[in-house]
Amino acid sequence: MTITSAEPALSFEAVEKIYANATVALRNVSFAVERGDFFGLLGPNGAGKSTLIACLAGLAKPTSGRIFVHGIDCAHERRRASACLGVVPQEIVFDPFLTVRETLRFQSGYWGIRRNDDWIDEILANLDLTDKADTNMRALSGGMKRRVLVAQALVHRPPVVVLDEPTAGVDVALRENLWRFIGRLHQSGTTVVLTTHDLAEAQRLCRRIAILKKGEIVAIDQTEALLQRFEGSVLRCRLVQGDLPPELAADLIRRHGADVVMRVRNAADAAHKLDVLRRCGIAVENLTLSQPSLEDVFLTIAQSEE
Ligand SMILES: Nc1ncnc2c1ncn2[C@@H]1O[C@H](COP(=O)(O)OP(=O)(O)OP(=O)(O)O)[C@@H](O)[C@H]1O
Ligand SMILES: [Mg+2]
Repeated sequence: MTITSAEPALSFEAVEKIYANATVALRNVSFAVERGDFFGLLGPNGAGKSTLIACLAGLAKPTSGRIFVHGIDCAHERRRASACLGVVPQEIVFDPFLTVRETLRFQSGYWGIRRNDDWIDEILANLDLTDKADTNMRALSGGMKRRVLVAQALVHRPPVVVLDEPTAGVDVALRENLWRFIGRLHQSGTTVVLTTHDLAEAQRLCRRIAILKKGEIVAIDQTEALLQRFEGSVLRCRLVQGDLPPELAADLIRRHGADVVMRVRNAADAAHKLDVLRRCGIAVENLTLSQPSLEDVFLTIAQSEE
């Protein structure tokens, strides 16, 4: 008999979600997240990220397919599965009459944990909420409320933490604090899954990434491997006058006003592109040739699926 390794932290098997209004939010989504991973779930607005997390958290019921947390079937053993999970939802929901500490004690009570104040204090300190412990939830700013949601997801020390856009509306300094704290949890063995639209953040933090588009996984790989999938490099420049010639449009990855980012295959291709610009009488400045970022890869994958 062979000894099988531990079940993955999360396992999605052919998950499909069709909402009552016939919106197909997820189609045949299958993938696993290994224990101890730092996993990014990326995708444009409406791709199905929050729907997948809602199905995982038991807030929505998959139309078909199965979801396992540490090998526990969510459909059959909801509470045992949830006990392994700390989910930070995208939407902020809270009881306005409770203070921050009461909210966290209440949540501890839900999990049957009494005398949890040492851990609660540690979480509050790490999320810079200590001085807000006795403040009513309704009196907190949006970024503070989001941090309380993170705290709430952690009170029962779940081995798997899922964060749906945890840094939306959180200021830069606290973002760093939040990531340091999540990083420490990860180092102590917690599996972390996160969604974000901040691709630089995802590139820096995630070891493995899945890209979801229109309810389907279109790419899943180690972050490094995803970056290497992109052949060549990217040319960034500002068009001082004139517009991008149609001849170069096929390789355009993105543009913000006059700033354009183009894919280049090799040195000869870069020279060719600059030549086309010169021939068309277009002056450029701030010219750089660099390695693609996750954002470049993401946009290239998103465009290639169109
Ligand atoms: N309760 C609902 N009823 C009907 N359709 C829904 C519901 N919730 C989400 N949808 C639809 O399902 C699709 C996926 O939405 P979802 O919120 O999962 O996307 P997302 O990837 O989380 O997007 P975002 O990046 O904007 O948060 C969208 O088309 C959305 O309009
Ligand atoms: Mg969402």
